[in-house]
Amino acid sequence: MPDEPAPVGWLVPRSAGAAPDGNSGQDEEQVAGGQGLLAPRALASQEAHRRELLEAIRTPIVTTTLSGRITGFNAAAIALFGSPARLYGRGIRDVLPFAAEPHEPTSGDVQGRLADATGRTVDLEISRTVMHEGADQGYAVYVVHDISRHAEVNRLREQLLYSVAHELRGPLMVLDNALEILDTEYPRLTSEEHAHVLGTARRTARRMRTLMEDLLSAGSIQSGHFVVAPRKTSIQAIIDDALEIVGPAMRARGQRLEIDVPANAPRVMADQRYARQVLTNLLANASKYSPEDSMIRLVVHPNSRLVRFSVEDQGPGIAPEQQAGLFERFYRVRTDSDAPGVGLGLAIAKGIVEAHGGSIGIDSQVGNGTRVWFTLQSATRQGRAAGHVSADPAG
Ligand SMILES: Nc1ncnc2c1ncn2[C@@H]1O[C@H](COP(=O)(O)OP(=O)(O)OP(=O)(O)O)[C@@H](O)[C@H]1O
Ligand SMILES: [Mg+2]
Repeated sequence: MPDEPAPVGWLVPRSAGAAPDGNSGQDEEQVAGGQGLLAPRALASQEAHRRELLEAIRTPIVTTTLSGRITGFNAAAIALFGSPARLYGRGIRDVLPFAAEPHEPTSGDVQGRLADATGRTVDLEISRTVMHEGADQGYAVYVVHDISRHAEVNRLREQLLYSVAHELRGPLMVLDNALEILDTEYPRLTSEEHAHVLGTARRTARRMRTLMEDLLSAGSIQSGHFVVAPRKTSIQAIIDDALEIVGPAMRARGQRLEIDVPANAPRVMADQRYARQVLTNLLANASKYSPEDSMIRLVVHPNSRLVRFSVEDQGPGIAPEQQAGLFERFYRVRTDSDAPGVGLGLAIAKGIVEAHGGSIGIDSQVGNGTRVWFTLQSATRQGRAAGHVSADPAG
């Protein structure tokens, strides 16, 4: 009997009397008739109306007897569980293992995860209401909310908080140490040592600044309120800005940067601050994921309508199966490297580049380094002649 399909949307009207296992004795007709208030036709129409309403509700609803046996459900419940046969006559716990039985006391809604009809794992929240009709009659209604999106957002939020706390702790300790040294050792420091401590403090403060900028941009890109104001901007200005931030870190790792900008490069349509952020993130990745003393190349390649920037490194490269999520927030390739990061840099770069009407991509091969490129619209064909330079990262 438990597998007998129930009519779609059939829900217990007034009582659990119609339990398919026959446990509770009474049948539907008796209960309805027992009210003696409405004529049968009026009752039938009221009932039909109620069914239509329940069918229209997109939230899965399941009713059970007081002993927890399923007696009714709507179309949304069938969609969640796959078929009426998976519901009708079964125990509520067979279907929703984390739900409370009708007789169990609960302290509010319960949450849990299960695989839906398609095999996808969903996060659910269940509200239960028990309707008593007399001493031992009644039924229970379970309303099932799919909170997967909400749960995912919460997970991301926790992950973000954790990563940000983790990312800030390191630089704060470095800053703290630098200040401590300047405070207590100042008279004994040689001018070289003094410059070294100050240099460390400034690099660290820059790292924190980049993190803050990334967080702010990520927030507005995600919320859909991200706007850029592109104007004619010189390519060299974007490069200089980015180098001011990443140059010191590259130098500290002994990396050389080769910049290749053709003499006739045009200006680009860019919001300078954000274009700088894109380039900073790509150069920072090239630096932190590549070995010390390696070479990084920044190549600018204009064509008629677009200007393409590529950042190439001699790092370990990224395996094809790990490339798919690279532009998603919080995605980090798992490696032995202890390079710091939140996993936002490329996601933000993509958001900014696309807001400018450009595109971004990555070519990488394990053992052969990585090239990340993006395009911006060209503004004019009479750009500043930047020439071909091979520069120290500090510029
Ligand atoms: N040039 C590169 N070489 C090798 N791996 C890279 C390179 N650029 C990015 N990756 C991989 O892609 C992941 C995502 O990069 P992304 O810049 O989005 O985040 P992150 O560098 O980890 O953190 P954040 O940029 O927020 O500080 C990195 O964790 C890294 O594993
Ligand atoms: Mg990064």
